[in-house]
Amino acid sequence: MARLVRSYWAAADGHRRRAARLVVLVGLSALLEGLALATIIPLLSAGDVPYHLGVWTLEGNGLRVLALGAFVTIALLSAGVRYAAETQSLRLMAEVEQGLRQRITGLLLRMKWASFLSLRLGDVNAATLVAANQITIGTQFFFRAAGSALAAGVLVLLSFAIAPKLALFTIALGAFGGATYHFASRIGERHARALSTRADDLGSSINDIFANLKFFQSTGNVARSEEETSRAYRDYAWAWFRSQRYNPLMRLAFEAGAVVFVGGLLAFALVTEGRFTPTAIVFLAMFARLLPRMIMTQEWLHIARIQRPWHDAWLERIDSIDEAPRHRIDGGRSPSLTESLACDHVTFTFPGAEHPALINVSWALQRGDRIAFVGESGSGKTTMLDVVSGLVTPSTGTMLVDGVPLGELDLEPWQSRIGIVLQTTPLFHDSVLENVRWTEPELDRDRAMHCLEVAHALEFVERLPDGGNTIIGEGGGRLSGGERQRIAIARALYRDPWLLLLDEPTSALDVRCEEAVLEALESLPASLTTLVASHRNRTVLMADRVLVLEHGRLVDDTTAGGMVAAESETLVGAGAAPAPAHRRRSAV
Ligand SMILES: Nc1ncnc2c1ncn2[C@@H]1O[C@H](COP(=O)(O)OP(=O)(O)OP(=O)(O)O)[C@@H](O)[C@H]1O
Ligand SMILES: [Mg+2]
Repeated sequence: MARLVRSYWAAADGHRRRAARLVVLVGLSALLEGLALATIIPLLSAGDVPYHLGVWTLEGNGLRVLALGAFVTIALLSAGVRYAAETQSLRLMAEVEQGLRQRITGLLLRMKWASFLSLRLGDVNAATLVAANQITIGTQFFFRAAGSALAAGVLVLLSFAIAPKLALFTIALGAFGGATYHFASRIGERHARALSTRADDLGSSINDIFANLKFFQSTGNVARSEEETSRAYRDYAWAWFRSQRYNPLMRLAFEAGAVVFVGGLLAFALVTEGRFTPTAIVFLAMFARLLPRMIMTQEWLHIARIQRPWHDAWLERIDSIDEAPRHRIDGGRSPSLTESLACDHVTFTFPGAEHPALINVSWALQRGDRIAFVGESGSGKTTMLDVVSGLVTPSTGTMLVDGVPLGELDLEPWQSRIGIVLQTTPLFHDSVLENVRWTEPELDRDRAMHCLEVAHALEFVERLPDGGNTIIGEGGGRLSGGERQRIAIARALYRDPWLLLLDEPTSALDVRCEEAVLEALESLPASLTTLVASHRNRTVLMADRVLVLEHGRLVDDTTAGGMVAAESETLVGAGAAPAPAHRRRSAV
């Protein structure tokens, strides 16, 4: 029980005031309800005994009217307070859920990219959506149960005040309820832990399948996936059933106990009093209100308890994310790229990797230069671009932007002036134009169309059913690889970048498209500094300088012309048809 309280006390962090208000309001409504019932006693006994209230003595009709008035007023007040308690409960739920989601999303967004890669995407979904929801349900039920327990306590006290001997039965019933709760909840909690793990696994495997549906469909894996998911759903459903089935059992035990209790109570009243006194009748009425509260307290506590494993798992996850290194955002200085960009003795090792991905790499360029990084797969080209963008922080060494270490700059303003085209392009189920605008606040249609034109994408965009407004499907699934890549280039240009980072920008293009895109890239403004990582000779030809990486080390610094002449072995792949000597771009 102490662990339960600790868990939900922690889950309600930041919302404890509202939780306390909820508990107090539920208790208050019970108190009012009990008082309303107590006012019936003079109603029932009126005529027999006069009632003394201060200087007044009430009897007969005066007493009846007053008691009835009090009953109606207090009962109405109790209903109002109950309504307020319900509202508090709903608000608590909304706030807790929002708070949990905000907290974990904030932590995930600030995780260092290299550390984030160790998480499963399905787990991220599960933590932000499912777990937050489950914990919220647990929190709400925990505080409702606390309120309900308080209400039951108040009603028990009132019954003591009315009929102390009869109230002893209530205590006995409460003890019996406590025992059944303890028994059922222990088993339920064990099953609930299994359920929470299964839910995580389920989320991840569904995510894996639908994120890669094309692969599953084209490799003849649909039936197998269906079988696997059905099995997982069935396991989950049974795990859920097992965790829940003690609820009705507890209720059954409690209700059976209550029947025995009422029978005993009536027998006791008959034996001791010889008849049902007004007090015994009111006591029974109060008990009729108390019984559902006892059942509720027990059931809600049980729900809170079987939801607790979600909270524990979530806390563990939060802790591990919290301990992961943070993506640094504020360096304190505004960035500019008017002169130079330099990489000074940079070494970088991915968390957990045995070998560094970059080893003591140094280079420098002037604004407007175009540099190509070449090298075999795994030589560190992409990692080099990630160091430049600030996505990863060098283990040792420094990136210098206009002579200022990147670590001293505000990172987001720097990154907002970088146009990136990745090996695989993230595109969304939205229009072409919205995809070009993505991450920029406003859509300037003319500007977006212009960027599409520069990226040599306009020709196919105009042929789409709705032109720039055509929805391109999840991941741009309704476009070819080359078309997707050209939209990515238009997007990179749309932000008016200082620096273009192109990671295999033409890897998905045929020779004709590649030629078109490279021409577009070559005709960009002279002030636009460009770093390109590529295997392909033709792409490299757009660069003034070629830096050759080998197992993370910089082993050569040459020109594209020299590169082609030497026919370096590090240049591999298609598109290697000897191209005309490197053409100096024209400033636009
Ligand atoms: N998240 C990661 N964790 C551990 N090691 C990584 C991670 N990402 C990349 N590496 C390793 O870092 C090295 C450099 O990888 P990088 O992606 O920079 O190569 P690349 O030159 O871009 O290769 P490619 O031409 O195949 O794109 C590789 O040995 C790779 O295995
Ligand atoms: Mg790469």
